[in-house]
Amino acid sequence: MTTVAVLSMKGGVGKSTVVLGLASAAWERGLRTLVIDLDPQANASMALDITDPTFTTSDVLADSRPGVAADAVVPSGWGDTVMVIPAERSLEHRNVAEGRNSTLPKSYDLVLIDCPPSLGELTRNALSTADRAIVVTEPTHFALHGATEALEAIDVIAASSNPGLRASCVVVNRFRPDDREHRLNADRLATEHGDLVYDPPIPDCAGIPQSQRAVSPIHSWNSPGSREVSELMDDLLDTLLPPPRPEPRMPHMSLRRYLT
Ligand SMILES: Nc1ncnc2c1ncn2[C@@H]1O[C@H](COP(=O)(O)OP(=O)(O)OP(=O)(O)O)[C@@H](O)[C@H]1O
Ligand SMILES: [Mg+2]
Repeated sequence: MTTVAVLSMKGGVGKSTVVLGLASAAWERGLRTLVIDLDPQANASMALDITDPTFTTSDVLADSRPGVAADAVVPSGWGDTVMVIPAERSLEHRNVAEGRNSTLPKSYDLVLIDCPPSLGELTRNALSTADRAIVVTEPTHFALHGATEALEAIDVIAASSNPGLRASCVVVNRFRPDDREHRLNADRLATEHGDLVYDPPIPDCAGIPQSQRAVSPIHSWNSPGSREVSELMDDLLDTLLPPPRPEPRMPHMSLRRYLT
């Protein structure tokens, strides 16, 4: 099971979009996926068609009994390969210390945690549970500063409470190649963080908000650009999952050769 936290210090840069894009890529492959919404705004929950949930991440964080997270899991509107622990507004008052939600159900191929736009307790909680972290940024001056701080927060948690955690990549979202400022900032980011910057960036794509509003995986959304974004999410998912096992060798093949 791979557990991935998606974070940024700055708001509105595309965290939920990356979570939903990866969930969509996993949905298309039929992977057993759990989306944990740790953002009181509950945008990922909404895009997965969860409204008015009975149990939420706020309840899970309030209750330290093992197995409590499993009780809050509900199927998404995309079908029951993509499950959700939804969020609710009261989550913002849930300042729970690190490590509290570390007993996750184990029966998933992929767990995606959508973080709020801050590096506060909720995000630290996600980082203390995850084994991978993706930082999302836009190619703007202030957002880049936030990306560096998010990478530092990952290092702090990895060094203090979760040695299994590592930063997978920094994803640049809403990149417009014709915008000189975007190109300059993307260059700066690459100079500062090298191979950690995921290439290619996610382009501006009208199909992203449209599909989210329609509660649809981007992989089943037919608009200009959405195919490109879906393929990018497929490749990004490949970087997070363990490589496929080699095909088992078939001893009967050599036996047949021996017999003929
Ligand atoms: N590449 C893109 N092209 C077009 N629109 C995008 C793109 N990425 C994100 N958006 C839109 O921008 C808005 C903000 O994106 P998103 O909600 O993913 O950001 P966020 O970082 O999760 O925000 P928050 O910090 O509030 O949680 C959404 O309406 C989303 O549909
Ligand atoms: Mg969000």
